[in-house]
Amino acid sequence: MQTAPAQQKPIAPVDLAAERAELGVALEDAVLRVLRSGTYILGPEVEKLEKDFAAYCNVPHGIAVATGTDALILGLLAVGVKRGDSVVTSPFTFFASASCIAWIGATPKLADVDPDTALLDPKKAEAAIDGKTSCILPVHLYGQLADMRAIRALADKRGLKILEDGAQCHGAKRDGVSCGELGDAGTYSFYPTKNLGACGEGGLIVTKNADIATRAKRLRDHGSPQKYVHAELGTNSRLQAFQGAVLNVKFPHLERWNVRRRELAARYDRNFAGSKTVLPLKLAANSVHVYHQYTVRIRANRSRDEVLKLLGEQKIFCGVHYPTPVHLQPVAKGWGYGPGDFPISEALSREVLCLPVHPFLTDAEIDRVSESLLALAGA
Ligand SMILES: Cc1ncc(COP(=O)(O)O)c(C=O)c1O
Repeated sequence: MQTAPAQQKPIAPVDLAAERAELGVALEDAVLRVLRSGTYILGPEVEKLEKDFAAYCNVPHGIAVATGTDALILGLLAVGVKRGDSVVTSPFTFFASASCIAWIGATPKLADVDPDTALLDPKKAEAAIDGKTSCILPVHLYGQLADMRAIRALADKRGLKILEDGAQCHGAKRDGVSCGELGDAGTYSFYPTKNLGACGEGGLIVTKNADIATRAKRLRDHGSPQKYVHAELGTNSRLQAFQGAVLNVKFPHLERWNVRRRELAARYDRNFAGSKTVLPLKLAANSVHVYHQYTVRIRANRSRDEVLKLLGEQKIFCGVHYPTPVHLQPVAKGWGYGPGDFPISEALSREVLCLPVHPFLTDAEIDRVSESLLALAGA
């Protein structure tokens, strides 16, 4: 007999308790090891993470910083973006992708996304380039890479740098490459809910380029190439050893967790096949998606927000990433955009619903989410 909905277990977008339970004492041992070591900032745990994660991305250099936001800010500076430049990015992303550009005194130039994948459209990116553009910042949203071959070709043609925002794409590939391989540098976030998350904040810059790596290392340490010598203005953004140790425990599990995310996503795809009201975003050709989010567009008689609320009443908790595009944020008023400028991003903001897809869900839970959603959205 089926359990009554009110008694059913909640289904949430993440389950950090299940992750901790799976890792068992290894996680606690790592934290205790750091506590007893007395090395709390950078040090061997962070160096191991930098080396291993860079190798995983197939590049020689990894520079660990305090947050994914700092990875973007310092990454932009390290690839050579200066105050007064402009940088092309997507309006449909977490605000940090664009705000980091403005934070360093450059101007975000926005270009709309592809409606099937919600990723930066290279043709629109080209149209957004102006005389001050020095860099393109593609966002690998939801766990799949933007079309980096096209974006690299565009950057080469126009003499631009590329900084990839890989905050959501640990382990993803497209055309056989990872975030950071085709760009001049790539950035990752280790916010706790990411596919690879710390027990606190963390970020990483990866690059093939030794000069960019040296500069990023200096920038995270007050622009200091050696103690008490400050060659340029930087900040303090050194990753804590506790976070390095935690990430070193979790990292060996990332591939397996990503495989499970893909299995769950394939199950959702099958469940929604043929639906006219629940439309999953598409997998790009030659793409290995890591489903940081499994995202559908809701085109039903009910609004997405109503569907979200009704699912919540059944203890199925979904996310909306993101309800407001970058250009319609209050603080972006001075950037020169307004409603209607990026119609695809604006429609996505009204329609997207991100369904639970973390690796500790069961097939039955995916089916429960699918059935409830299809019942609410209608045929
Ligand atoms: C696309 C994107 N860029 C940047 C960031 C910023 O990372 P952090 O929260 O680690 O500063 C995030 C984090 O959620 C993100 O999703």
